[in-house]
Amino acid sequence: MTMKKGFTIWFTGMPGAGKTTSASLLEQRLRASGASVEMLDGDVVRTRLSKGLGFSKEDRDENIRRIGFVCELLSRNGVIAIAAAVSPYRATRDEQRARIPGFVEVYMECPLDVLVQRDRKGLYKKALAGEISQFTGISDPYEPPLAPEVTIHSALETPEEGVQKVWTALEGLGLVWSPSPPKLGGLPS
Ligand code: ADX
Repeated sequence: MTMKKGFTIWFTGMPGAGKTTSASLLEQRLRASGASVEMLDGDVVRTRLSKGLGFSKEDRDENIRRIGFVCELLSRNGVIAIAAAVSPYRATRDEQRARIPGFVEVYMECPLDVLVQRDRKGLYKKALAGEISQFTGISDPYEPPLAPEVTIHSALETPEEGVQKVWTALEGLGLVWSPSPPKLGGLPS
């Protein structure tokens, strides 16, 4: 169902915008359709590949370049790589786009007031209290993509709706050819 061609789906957005949730759902659905998929999630990458890096611009860029490098290796070997990282700097994301063949950018948009209200990890509260410095959206920049392949409005759309949007875009790009993501729990058709 899915072509044996690798590519990279890059989720960017502020902390807590829903990148991990949507990226995981997409990963499961691509896998259920028979594809080889690997997900690189910022929170996980920072405990392994990028252990020791902080949140200065230099360290964030280094983190993104490492994630991008792995995505590039996977993509050129027929694997679908899914990155889910804040990746706040446009130029650094565009650098990955230029390097990785088949780079699909997904902007997970969510208004700051909704993020502060949700605050599942309690980080916005700490950042607003000045307990975390250089926190994205509070005391550090986030540069939204100017021309992402997909924008998901996570305050307005369910994760399923968001994933459907990505799927439709992948179809339009000729990267998958199933009309809709297979439902989980069912046999791949
Ligand atoms: S990135 O900027 O380098 O792309 P990455 O996605 O790996 O960031 O990590 C972001 C995660 O680290 C957030 O989801 C949050 O849990 C945690 N975090 C801790 N400190 C910060 C901070 N100062 N800014 C943003 N996220 C932070």
